[in-house]
Amino acid sequence: MSRLIVVSNRTPGKGPAAGGLAVALRKTLAERDGFWFGWSGRLVDRPDSEAVFEDIEGIKVGKIDLTRDDHHAYYAGFSNSILWPSFHLRLDLATIEGHWYEGYRRVNAQFAQALLPHIAPDDVIWVHDYHMIPLASELRHLGINNRIGFYLHIPFPTVDALYAIPHHNELMRDLSRYDLIGMQANRDVSAFTEFADHQSPSTLSGSPLKSVDFSRTEVAAFPIGSDPEAFARLAVSPAATKMVRRMERALGDQALVLGVDRLDYSKGLPQRVEAYEKLLANNASLRRQVHLLQVAPPSRDTIKEYQETSDTLDAMVGRLMGRFAEPDWQPVTYVKRAYGQPSLAGLYRLARVGLVTPLRDGMNLVAHEYVASQDPHDPGVLVLSRFAGAAEIFEDALLVNPFDTDETAEALRLALNMPIEERRHRWERLMAGAHDHSVDRWAESYLSRLAPTGQNGQPAPVRDVLYLDSVA
Ligand code: F6P
Repeated sequence: MSRLIVVSNRTPGKGPAAGGLAVALRKTLAERDGFWFGWSGRLVDRPDSEAVFEDIEGIKVGKIDLTRDDHHAYYAGFSNSILWPSFHLRLDLATIEGHWYEGYRRVNAQFAQALLPHIAPDDVIWVHDYHMIPLASELRHLGINNRIGFYLHIPFPTVDALYAIPHHNELMRDLSRYDLIGMQANRDVSAFTEFADHQSPSTLSGSPLKSVDFSRTEVAAFPIGSDPEAFARLAVSPAATKMVRRMERALGDQALVLGVDRLDYSKGLPQRVEAYEKLLANNASLRRQVHLLQVAPPSRDTIKEYQETSDTLDAMVGRLMGRFAEPDWQPVTYVKRAYGQPSLAGLYRLARVGLVTPLRDGMNLVAHEYVASQDPHDPGVLVLSRFAGAAEIFEDALLVNPFDTDETAEALRLALNMPIEERRHRWERLMAGAHDHSVDRWAESYLSRLAPTGQNGQPAPVRDVLYLDSVA
């Protein structure tokens, strides 16, 4: 079997792997040989052109350093102040500084140069996420004609949002250099297809941009998932049970409503707090009977829009407390720090409601983890945004429009009052969905499509044409 090279901005660290993705790809890499390649986390004045490889708990990981300026333009700039908000349809929060594109491109070229000496002819290369869109172009320019796949972990934008991105046509041409593009949801494939069908309009500089040829690129949805068996086990582990006991003591008879999200404007946290406030305002009988725990570890906090989201949330939670708290009762606990997976699994299991209401999300693995952690005899209810990729899988959740805080408040009320039979019935179907879309199946189905082996066990043919034209 051919080797697998996984490329992503961040690389797996030492210690228990934090996310399902890291776990799944570690497993895949352990089975099929190869390595993981990415940024070292270090910023230096003069990065070495050669990657440094180390063994991290059985997985070979190659890393490169970046300069501070390049990293700023590539990560905080182009990736997270232009691509991230645009792909999440938050153009109002984008900072369109076109010059960041040069740093973004330089870093991708640096990745390609450092990766080049380590690529063997039959290797399959799997590139992850929006930081790395130009990588295949850069590799093809260096003469690499291996199978290269791309997986987008975030939603694909509508055409109008895409057109607002500087150099969008180059980025789309970059995507056409991949053999397979994997998206989270059918919704994303449709948005991509709409662009591919209509292409770009004229720009200020004159004539319409050259159209992009996608005839050699396959695009399909491969919804990512969690490891539901592992989460189900973790949720009854001693570490999780310790958290459950601790929380039971603190909560008494109150039903727990739980949100767990990175502190990111795409997660709809202010709308969530507003919905909860409406729940308490409209249902006096629920006060003292319910408690919202929102866990929100800070993220990308050098970026102004993230700091502002954090400030907004501080103010809203303060207002909620002032309005409803009593000397001996608090309606909400808001925790701005990260917890390990065992503690989270315990919290998920205890929560009567998993409140997952992003304004737009690629998949949302918290929804998967919440479902997998439930007690089959007494499961909680998932209240889920219809704008998360997970909504295509979890039809038995209470699906809400997160912008409509009255609707979310009503879904919370229904969830808190839902009879046990209905909770069980819904959960069984949700759990079946989590199983069908486990992270193992995701990796397996993506890779078998990217590099199917022929009948004689030989790898699929590589691209026979090199792309030598300019990407500009
Ligand atoms: O959801 C997209 C994603 O890039 C994930 O891959 C990652 O875990 C998360 O956002 C956090 O991103 P960052 O690496 O910027 O902290």
